[in-house]
Amino acid sequence: MKLYIETYGCQMNVADTEVIFSILRKEGYERTEDMAEADVILANTCSVRDNAEQRIHGRIEQFRREKERRGAIIGIVGCMAERLKEELLEKRKVDIVVGPDAYRRLPELLKAVSPQSPQIDVLLSRDETYADIIPVRTDKLGVSAFISIMRGCNNVCSYCVVPYTRGVERSRDPHTIVREACEVFSKGYREVTLLGQNVDSYLWKGEDGEVVEFADLLAMVADVSPLLRVRFSTSHPKDISDRLIETMASRENICRHIHLPVQSGSTRMLELMRRKYTREWYLDRIRKIREVMPDCGLTTDVIAGFCTETEEDHRETLSLMEEVGFDWAFMFQYSERPGTLAAKKYPDDVPPEVKTRRLSEIIDLQNRKSLESYRRDIGKTFKVLVEGPSKRDPAMLSGRTSSSKMCVFPAGNLHTGDYTTVTVLDATSATLICNLTPDA
Ligand code: SAH
Ligand code: SF4
Ligand code: F3S
Repeated sequence: MKLYIETYGCQMNVADTEVIFSILRKEGYERTEDMAEADVILANTCSVRDNAEQRIHGRIEQFRREKERRGAIIGIVGCMAERLKEELLEKRKVDIVVGPDAYRRLPELLKAVSPQSPQIDVLLSRDETYADIIPVRTDKLGVSAFISIMRGCNNVCSYCVVPYTRGVERSRDPHTIVREACEVFSKGYREVTLLGQNVDSYLWKGEDGEVVEFADLLAMVADVSPLLRVRFSTSHPKDISDRLIETMASRENICRHIHLPVQSGSTRMLELMRRKYTREWYLDRIRKIREVMPDCGLTTDVIAGFCTETEEDHRETLSLMEEVGFDWAFMFQYSERPGTLAAKKYPDDVPPEVKTRRLSEIIDLQNRKSLESYRRDIGKTFKVLVEGPSKRDPAMLSGRTSSSKMCVFPAGNLHTGDYTTVTVLDATSATLICNLTPDA
């Protein structure tokens, strides 16, 4: 039996797809990257914005043609499965709908599928972390692996659907995380990214009274080997602690990069968003990070046109971005999600053309700041981890700095997974163009 999975959404979904492959491999399913030869076709889906869902609905229509043509089993798993539940069986006519906490039941559900009896399990769990499952890695290069350290989210950001699709927060046993890191390292991987919706609230309480916070976990994983780079995502500005920042600084192989989604520069908006911090708090966290790690890469997420946002609020977002000077950012227009606090309580009252205009101002500003940040690196020397051939020019290699900036450089005698030192010759707003540093 051949299994094809198309993955949408965040890195957590990428990690979950690897868990699903692992669960089904034990049952004899083999992974394929060609939908046309698959017996089972799944979409691992995202609900975070309406346009993400619309795109997936379009793809599911294509899956259905595949089903009608040759009888493949088609299914929806992940966040849309959790959000839309039975509606997907009825309206989309798929065979199977499985939420993010029910993947262990996939084998039996797939066995039970028949034209008359589609299968669904969208129960959320308080304790499922898939801790014992060794994911089947799907990355092409074998250098960088995602490790899921927790699931769910206990925050209630008013715009966000994730707490409803992923359930309550739970942390995974740290020893299984360290074991997984050791295992990928022994297979030749040189970088792991620890994943959670809010990694700073990671907390493990073992039966023997052992307490492990995120800073402890980070140190434990970093101590697997000085040759293993450790990254993490995502941090929440309200929770990122001095202790974490200091732990990062204490080990060279913990990468100097923090993705710290700000969402808005206006305290009034942040309050409506229920982010539980102010503009001043956010700027103070940035100040602390830069004080301890002056070379730390900083990136963010921004939402344009949230409920009741005025021009004044919008200008505060621009001025915060100007002041911080992020290296890059994910920028979105607010998309109302059914069932969220904002959908229930606040009017989605910023007209679409105003959202679009504000978003394009945000993007223009960020492009300028990215270029400034990348150009500031011209002449500097960085240690990079070689990832593979550059996309633009296969004669060159690419790899990232500790601060997560992409570099391209001549191949020399280097291989994927090697460390090397490069000197920056030139820069665009997304790439450092480098030479190999002599004697490196
Ligand atoms: N847990 C992470 C982010 C999860 S979702 C955090 O708290 O930062 C990723 C990003 O999608 C968010 O940071 C936010 O910028 C964006 N997003 C979430 N819901 C959205 C919505 N309803 N409309 C537009 N953007 C949204
Ligand atoms: Fe959503 Fe907020 Fe949780 Fe992030 S922290 S997943 S934005 S509710
Ligand atoms: Fe999307 Fe679910 Fe991730 S809604 S962003 S795939 S947690």
